[in-house]
Amino acid sequence: MTSPGPAALVIVANRLPVDQVSEPDGTTSWRPSPGGLVSALEPVMRENDGTWIGWTGGRDDRMEPFEADDLDLVPVTMTAQEVEEFYEGFSNATLWPLYHDLVAKPEFHREWWDSYVSVNRRFAELAAEHAAESATVWVHDYQLQLVPQMLRELRPDLRIGFYLHIPFPPAELFQQLPWRRQILEGLLGADLVGFQLPGAAANFVRLVRQRVGHKTHRDLIYLPDGRTVRAGAFPISIDTAGYEELARSEAVVERAAEIREALGDPRKVFLGIDRLDYTKGIHARLRAFGELVRDGHFDVEDAVFVQVAVPSREQVEQYRLLRDDIDRLVGHINGDYGRIGRPAISYLHSSYPREEMAALYRAADIMVVTPYRDGMNLVAKEYVACRHDNTGALVLSEFAGAAEELRQAYLINPYDINGMKSALVGAARADDKELARRMRAMRKTVIQHDVAAWADDFLTELNDGDLTHDKVVRPARRL
Ligand code: F6P
Repeated sequence: MTSPGPAALVIVANRLPVDQVSEPDGTTSWRPSPGGLVSALEPVMRENDGTWIGWTGGRDDRMEPFEADDLDLVPVTMTAQEVEEFYEGFSNATLWPLYHDLVAKPEFHREWWDSYVSVNRRFAELAAEHAAESATVWVHDYQLQLVPQMLRELRPDLRIGFYLHIPFPPAELFQQLPWRRQILEGLLGADLVGFQLPGAAANFVRLVRQRVGHKTHRDLIYLPDGRTVRAGAFPISIDTAGYEELARSEAVVERAAEIREALGDPRKVFLGIDRLDYTKGIHARLRAFGELVRDGHFDVEDAVFVQVAVPSREQVEQYRLLRDDIDRLVGHINGDYGRIGRPAISYLHSSYPREEMAALYRAADIMVVTPYRDGMNLVAKEYVACRHDNTGALVLSEFAGAAEELRQAYLINPYDINGMKSALVGAARADDKELARRMRAMRKTVIQHDVAAWADDFLTELNDGDLTHDKVVRPARRL
């Protein structure tokens, strides 16, 4: 194994963009993970000799830097205690619920914070070690909010960008955090701080003014050391063309037909695909559907709800409780209203490759996305990308970032069960012309603004913002 040379572009994210797979001969290898972030950044990484720093997902696995699929990867080691305190604890039981409107109660523990600081420092030190002179470093997400400042102290020559993939809460919620000032100062180490929505950027600027006392003007923050930090909205997107191509492929078309047949060829297939997370509103949506079946709006002979729940963060208590709640609810609904071979809800607790997801999107008449709060929600965009014939309906929570772009969806408030029921009925009864009108407009949005455009916009803003820098990382699209 050879260590990669200094990189002109360093991506720092909690996870590496690869998954470990076990081969039949007992060895293990690495396969690129299917996420959109990798496909967006891969071309830019290649153009700029990029290096990606992240956690493998293991415990105590001290690994050297390695190459997978031509990508230079630098693994970050975490002990079992750090996984518990930094990842499951501070990241996912403190910040995650706090940043998602307190959908669950955040826990505040001082030892979790200490672990957050030391793991952030480890990421920052590795970034400092692997970045070339005047390189660009792009730090991602809520797990690593202290990295920009720590890195700037180590390497003032770098151009540093930070992007938050999840919502950034209003001041009223954020200020509950005992370490609110440290987080704000951590982020201010970046030259550009990106958010999904303009409202989140405005929350951040306001908090900096109120809590740190820096001067601000619109999206700019003026620091006492003379630096200027910009905060802006860069709504993330998906590999639209890639999804559409998959959805058009013979294998996916055949698989979609197979899925409908296996479901008993109902007239209407409703679909939910989510990580099993309490922010996603899975319980409320299944309840709404169950009531519609109970009240005779839908019959299990001609309507079914397919719910895919991808296992996630299973060591965190709130996630375990949620799993039990959903299991119980599905059991009740199917027990009360299902018939032999005809469950009201077809529930799958598993993750699937992109091909199977595309087939499910093709098979579904109504996609149901009902989070209480969501940074963006890429599933909504993936569904739209797969409906190249302008069929299908999207029922979408107004509290998902995607609702700001996909205005032609059937928009709902997930706290309003009756409103959600009306939207499900409305979407199921709409005529083809109405559905095509809505889908055409939504498709235009996701085609024009895909994940490559997102990466391009962020890197352009980051690199053009400061012309005194001599090395400018160019987005792959422009090369
Ligand atoms: O949406 C935030 C996010 O951290 C994504 O970046 C990630 O793909 C997903 O949640 C799953 O998170 P985890 O790394 O905790 O499994």
